Amino acid sequence: MDPKQNRVDLIIDKYGANKEKLVQILLDVQDEYRWLSKSTLERCSKRLDVPLAYVYNVATFYKHFSLVPKGRHSMHVCVGTACHVRGAERLIDRVGQATGIKPGETTADDKFSLDTVNCLGCCALGPVMVADDEYLSNPTTKDIERIVQEAE
Ligand code: FES
Repeated sequence: MDPKQNRVDLIIDKYGANKEKLVQILLDVQDEYRWLSKSTLERCSKRLDVPLAYVYNVATFYKHFSLVPKGRHSMHVCVGTACHVRGAERLIDRVGQATGIKPGETTADDKFSLDTVNCLGCCALGPVMVADDEYLSNPTTKDIERIVQEAE
């Protein structure tokens, strides 16, 4: 058996193959693999006995889920209104200079993914980004380059 599929089954088993726990199951799989593959969604559909279309709807409804592979490290730039007026687009450009990627993309070495979010809840610090769990207020290109260099 595909070891990845086996791991997905273990996660499903952890929740007793309970269809009411679909979101939690997908969250655990997303945390483990950084994305939800087609085979994962099909496995959840089969094991939980829910239509595949329903699993896809859940997986596409929540922004936390990704249907494409993501990098080992995440960068999220806030493009909410407060950050937008304070220069979110310029911040995205600086992240792009340091990583070579645009929002929605992952670096070729699978090290970083860049995405946008609508509000991180700290508008007064805008423009804001989060690199993994580190919140950064209006970081310079050098700040972002430091993060890129320090990340493994
Ligand atoms: S709009 Fe960016 S943190 Fe709220």
